[in-house]
Amino acid sequence: EQDQAKQHVLAGKKVLISAGPTQEKIDPVRFFTNHSSGKMGFALAESAAQLGADVTLVTGPVTLDTPANVDRIDVVTAQEMHEHMMEHFPESDIVIKAAAVADYFPKNTYDHKMKKAEGTLTIEMDRTTDILKELGRAKTNQFLVGFAAETNSPLEFGKKKLVSKNLDAIIVNDIQAAGSGFRSDTNDVTYIHKDGKNKHLALATKKQIANQILEQIISDLKADAT
Ligand code: CTP
Ligand code: CA
Repeated sequence: EQDQAKQHVLAGKKVLISAGPTQEKIDPVRFFTNHSSGKMGFALAESAAQLGADVTLVTGPVTLDTPANVDRIDVVTAQEMHEHMMEHFPESDIVIKAAAVADYFPKNTYDHKMKKAEGTLTIEMDRTTDILKELGRAKTNQFLVGFAAETNSPLEFGKKKLVSKNLDAIIVNDIQAAGSGFRSDTNDVTYIHKDGKNKHLALATKKQIANQILEQIISDLKADAT
């Protein structure tokens, strides 16, 4: 009885999640990217679906299977991720941006493979759109959650991002801590709510961390509703 109720705590809720890296094209054989594996975002999508939510997962290139009962949208670039996130944002109740979006993309792309030449190569890059910041601007009733991957002062940088992007909560990740970060199957994070409350989620599998993050979100949503 109680398990059943717990299982469906997100029934009727639309959850939008982004995961993975983005790839920004240089030429047909080269791109600019980062070490994101997509594991944290996929674990969140799986957990949300198990809690009965209607889940849309917008993901960059990863080598993971789609969790059961999740609508998956594959994208490559930050621009494509931006378009799909904006499209699904208005109808969403909970939005979690676990993707590691490239901050820059090459200004010029080539349709033919670049040939090497003597001397230094300089590749000029432009800034990508800060998708999360745009979602923060467009926010009406959505509970908006970001991630911050940091190598130093994670809580301080995380809080700044929470404020500047108009988030409801941020998950801060010290990517240099043991068992944390990009390729790992485990993670160690701190959940920071906009009211300043911190909750450390100690080292555990990304699936367990995903469950705990959703538990926090659900309890914060309940508190907001009262
Ligand atoms: N993010 C985004 N669009 C971008 C860059 C980042 O939506 N172009 C989102 C990420 O998905 C993450 C959050 O912003 O949820 C924080 O990303 P992070 O890289 O830690 O912060 P940045 O704002 O990009 O700042 P910096 O990389 O300089 O620390
Ligand atoms: Ca960044």
